[in-house]
Amino acid sequence: MTKSEIKALVSRLTLEEKASLLSGKDAWSTVAVPRLGIPSINLSDGPHGLRQCNGLGWGDSVPATCFPPAVLLACSFDEELAKKQGAAIGEEAQDQNVQIVLGPGNNIKRSPLGGRNFEYFSEDPVLSGHIAAGVIEGIQSKKAGTTLKHFACNSQENERFVIDEHVSERALREIYLASYEYPVKKARPTSIMCAYNRINGDYCSQSKWLLTDILRDEWGFKGFVMSDWGAVDNRAQGVYAGLELEMPGTGEENKREIINAVEGGRVTLPSADKKFKNKLTMRQIDKAVTRLLEAVFALHEKKTGKSCDYEKHHAAAVQIAKESMVLLKNTGALPIKGGKTAVIGEMAVKPRYQGGGSSRVNAINVTAPLDEMAKHGEVEYSRGYSLDDDKETGMIADAVKTAAECDRAVIICGLPDSYESEGYDRRHMNLPENQLRLIDEVVRKQPNTIIVLCNGSPVAMPFVGKVNGILEAYLGGEGVGEAIADLLYGVSNPCGKLAETFPQYLEHNPSFGNFPGENGHVDYSEGIYVGYRWYEKHNIPPLFPFGHGLSYTSFRYDDIELSKTGIDENEDLEVRITLTNTGSVDGKEVVQLYVKENSPVVSRPEKELKAFKKIMIKAGETATVTLKLDRRSFAYWDDTLHQWKVNGGKFTLLAGGSSICSLTKEITVNAEPFFKPINMYTLICELKNHPKGEEFMNKLCAVVGDDFREGIKNTDPQWPLRTIVSMCGKITLPRLADIIDDINGK
Ligand code: BGC
Repeated sequence: MTKSEIKALVSRLTLEEKASLLSGKDAWSTVAVPRLGIPSINLSDGPHGLRQCNGLGWGDSVPATCFPPAVLLACSFDEELAKKQGAAIGEEAQDQNVQIVLGPGNNIKRSPLGGRNFEYFSEDPVLSGHIAAGVIEGIQSKKAGTTLKHFACNSQENERFVIDEHVSERALREIYLASYEYPVKKARPTSIMCAYNRINGDYCSQSKWLLTDILRDEWGFKGFVMSDWGAVDNRAQGVYAGLELEMPGTGEENKREIINAVEGGRVTLPSADKKFKNKLTMRQIDKAVTRLLEAVFALHEKKTGKSCDYEKHHAAAVQIAKESMVLLKNTGALPIKGGKTAVIGEMAVKPRYQGGGSSRVNAINVTAPLDEMAKHGEVEYSRGYSLDDDKETGMIADAVKTAAECDRAVIICGLPDSYESEGYDRRHMNLPENQLRLIDEVVRKQPNTIIVLCNGSPVAMPFVGKVNGILEAYLGGEGVGEAIADLLYGVSNPCGKLAETFPQYLEHNPSFGNFPGENGHVDYSEGIYVGYRWYEKHNIPPLFPFGHGLSYTSFRYDDIELSKTGIDENEDLEVRITLTNTGSVDGKEVVQLYVKENSPVVSRPEKELKAFKKIMIKAGETATVTLKLDRRSFAYWDDTLHQWKVNGGKFTLLAGGSSICSLTKEITVNAEPFFKPINMYTLICELKNHPKGEEFMNKLCAVVGDDFREGIKNTDPQWPLRTIVSMCGKITLPRLADIIDDINGK
C-alpha cells in the first residue's frame, strides 16, 4: 500500500475508528478495520527467541528456539553474529505468523543488581548499540518487524512503573540515549517501545522531548512508538508526545480519552503536564494513525508464512553461545585433556539458560552440560547443591568425595531463577550460600577445580584465587550444554569478551548508594561514569575488566598505525591495528579501540570504547584490522550548548584485547574553538579568554566608565555579569541586556 493510498484510507476512518486503532486489540495484536481492509498484525516477545502466547502470557508459549539472551550475545562483540541470531528469529517469526518481535532490549546496565540485566547488552553504549543494530538488521532481513526497547533509562526493576530517574543531560546523551541512537540511525527498527519509568519528571510514554524531539526530529526515526505493557499514564498526552500505539490497550477507556481530547472534552487521567493543553487536533490523530498503518500494511504485505529449519537454528544457538562465553581465568587446567572429570552441580543437568519474565522462551531442545561433556571424556556426576533450597548442604560430602576421586572437578553453578528476573532487582551479588560452601570444600580436596558460571549478571567470586579456571557461561540459550562442553574440552576456542565490568565488591560499583533509589526517584549521580568509565576514573581495580576474555591461544598486539597524524574534526580517521596469533591453535580475537582526550576542558573518562572488530587468526599468523573513527568518537555532549562538541587538541588512541590496552598512539584533532554566547550569567573572569570579551568590555565601559575595567584588572571576579548592576550601580539591567544582545548580534 502506498503512502497516498494510506492517506486516503485514513481520511475515510471515523474518529472512533482512529482512536481504537491506537490501542492494541489484545495483548498480542493490533486492531483491524475490516470495512476498509485494514488488517491486524501479531506481536510476540522477544528478544532472544519467540514467545507467542495467549491471554496475558503467563502460560507456556509456542515452542521456539531459545537463543543466547542479550547478556551473552553481547560478549561475542560481533555484529555479524548478532545479525545471524536476528535472522533466525526473523525466520521463526515468519513461520509462526508473527509480524513484530518485541526486541531487542538495549538499556544500559547501570548496576550489577538490575534484575533484567540479562535482557540487556552492556554497560557501554557503543557495544550495546552495535549488537542491537545487528539483531534488528537480522530480524528485518527476513521481513519481520522489530521493537527496540525500553526507551529509555529502564535500568532497574524496582518501582519500574513509576520511578523518576534523575539523569543529567550529558549522561543521557553520552550513555543512555547513545545506546539507542546508533541502532535507530543505522538499522531503522520498525518500532520503539517506550519505557515504564519517568526521566527527570516526565513519563517516557508521554515525553514529547524523548519521543518526538530526539527520536524523530533529531535521529530521523520513521517507524512508530508503542508503549510498554501498561506504561501509559495519560493517553491523550501520549498521542501528543508521539506515542502511537498503546499496549496492550485499555479498550474503551483510553479510546474515549483520545476522542474527548479531540472533541474538546475533558481529559480525566492524571499528570498531563503544562505543555500539553489537554487537546488534540485531528491532524495529530491522523499523523499517529498514518505512522501506525504504514507499518501495519508493510508488515502484513511482507508475510511469507514460510516454514523454517529449527534444527539449523539450534546449531546456530550453539555456535553463538560458543563464540560468546567468556573464559575469565585459566591457569592451564583448560582445555580438558584426558583423565576423569567430576561434574558437580545441579545446573549440570538442569542448566539455567535464560532469565525469567516476558522474555522466557518455551525452548525446543535444551542440552545439558553433563550429557554433552560425557560425549568428550569420562565423567562422574554429583549433584552438590539444590537449586530449590539454597541452605541445603547435605549433598556437599558426596561432591567432595567424587571430586577427590577424579583428576579434576568442574563445578557448574550460578544464580537460581529466583535470584534474578524481570520484575525485581537483586539485593546482593552473592551466589547462594550452599554453592559457595560447596566450592570451598571441593577445592580443599581437589585443587584442580574449574568453575562454570550460569548467571545473568556479575557475581562476587570469593573463590577466584583458589580455582584453576573460570568459564563465564552467563545464560547460554538452549545450546548451553554443547557450548560449555565444546569449550571445556577445547573443541572450540573461547573468544567471548566481557560486555560489563565485574567489580570486586558491590560497594565499588558506580551506582552503589543510589540504586534503586527511594521514595519514587533515583539519582544517577555517577553521571557519565558508568561501568569501566567509573572504575578507571576512580582507580578501583575490578575483579575482571570490561572487554576481558581469554583464549586457548595468545595474541600479541604489534602495531597501531593511523591514516593521518592529525585530522580536522569533521574528517574520518582510519586506524590499522596489527596483531599476531602467537599460540599453537587458531583463534578469534576482539580488537578493541578506545579514545582518550589528553587535556579535556570538561571532566572526561580515562578512555571510551569507540570501535571494535572480531577477527579469526590462524596459529602463527599476523593480521591487520582497520577501524574507523569519526567526529563523534572524539566529541562530548556540552550541556550548556546542548550540542556535541570536539575540543581541539591531542587525543590518545588505545588498542588491545581488553580495556587494559597494550598499544597507544597520539593524534591531533583540529577543531573550531567554541565559546558560549555571552549572557547575564557569564562570569566576568571568563571574558578574558572570550573572543568577544574585549568588545563587550569596551561597550560596557562606555556606560559605566573605564575605572570598572581598571578595578577588576587584577582580581578577575567570579561574579556573573548581572551583578554589575548592583556592584557598580551605573547601569540598569535592561541596558546591560541590550549590550549583551548587541554583542551576540541579536
Ligand atoms: C515488558 C516488555 C515486554 C512486554 C510484553 C513488559 O512487561 O517490559 O519487555 O515486551 O511486557 O510481554
